[in-house]
Amino acid sequence: MIDRITQTEPEQDEIEFEVTLRPQDFKSYIGQERLKQNLKLAIKAAKLRNEALDHVLLYGPPGLGKTTMANVIAHEMGAQIRITSGPAIERAGDLASLLTNLKDNDILFIDEIHRINRNVEEVLFSAMEDFKLDIMLGKGPSARSLRLDLPRFTIIGATTRAGALSAPFRDRFGIVHRLEFYTPEEIESIIKRTSKILNSKIDSKAPSLLANRSRLTPRIANRLLKRIRDYADVNGDGIIDQQITLKALDLLEVDEIGLEPTDRMFLNAIIDNYDGGPVGLETISALTAEEKSTIEDFIEPYLMQIGFLERTPRGRKVTPKARKHLKK
Ligand SMILES: Nc1ncnc2c1ncn2[C@@H]1O[C@H](COP(=O)(O)OP(=O)(O)OP(=O)(O)O)[C@@H](O)[C@H]1O
Ligand SMILES: [Mg+2]
Repeated sequence: MIDRITQTEPEQDEIEFEVTLRPQDFKSYIGQERLKQNLKLAIKAAKLRNEALDHVLLYGPPGLGKTTMANVIAHEMGAQIRITSGPAIERAGDLASLLTNLKDNDILFIDEIHRINRNVEEVLFSAMEDFKLDIMLGKGPSARSLRLDLPRFTIIGATTRAGALSAPFRDRFGIVHRLEFYTPEEIESIIKRTSKILNSKIDSKAPSLLANRSRLTPRIANRLLKRIRDYADVNGDGIIDQQITLKALDLLEVDEIGLEPTDRMFLNAIIDNYDGGPVGLETISALTAEEKSTIEDFIEPYLMQIGFLERTPRGRKVTPKARKHLKK
């Protein structure tokens, strides 16, 4: 598989890199203004009443800052955060031990919450509602249920697919918010912030150049910056200027609007084989040998954001704007 600079999930060394770049508070968290405003209000109110914050569900494409925001919320609440993920909570018992170990006002962050087991989900949502945990002891006719009191905790769930959560589960979250793509100006600020933290020398034009190729996504902006910094160190004098940036991006096959070979292959497949669509996800998946989840999580959101792809009831359609860019 080709090296996908813009689409892969973070690897171990990158996770560590990201942690060092993670903004800690609302002030250093750039963008997502509407979300920040809503959260600031909710946090202030919770603190005034000395209560736990309402449960929060954050959804949206990868790399937009869901995990970062969960940590910011904990920091702003002055609360302790425990981190887990949907697939890690296999049985109701795992959930019980997580919840009974929390203290009042603690936050339990559940990443990939859409991948939580159905049985666990049921136990969780009653716990979220009345802070009681119902557990069954034993099996068959002698089984009996036990009700435990839980501390007043807050669940922060993160998912790339809010639609994969059952409606009653979604309804248990008092604050449900979609993270938006960033504006190029916001991405530019993030690039400047990151280069400061990394101590890299970047000229005044490179950040905006790079911002336009970062798919309006902080993770990708940081990732590209890191690769360009390597390029500047090896092929130049370490200074990231326009020329170095363009050369490095060229090498990475990232074009002027952030598309890379996988995107072009994806769009071309629909144009060449189905005259631009509409065509179903299953078919595109077979055609491009990409997993459906890769297509839905990594490839499509940005293409739709920039108006290159439309989702219709009959399938995906490539727009004239995309054809123009691809000269097709
Ligand atoms: N608003 C922001 N300001 C500055 N940097 C940000 C912001 N949002 C995200 N980042 C940077 O982008 C990186 C990726 O963000 P994060 O891990 O929070 O994304 P995510 O939405 O949780 O992604 P995933 O769906 O893959 O879990 C962070 O390490 C951070 O450095
Ligand atoms: Mg995350």
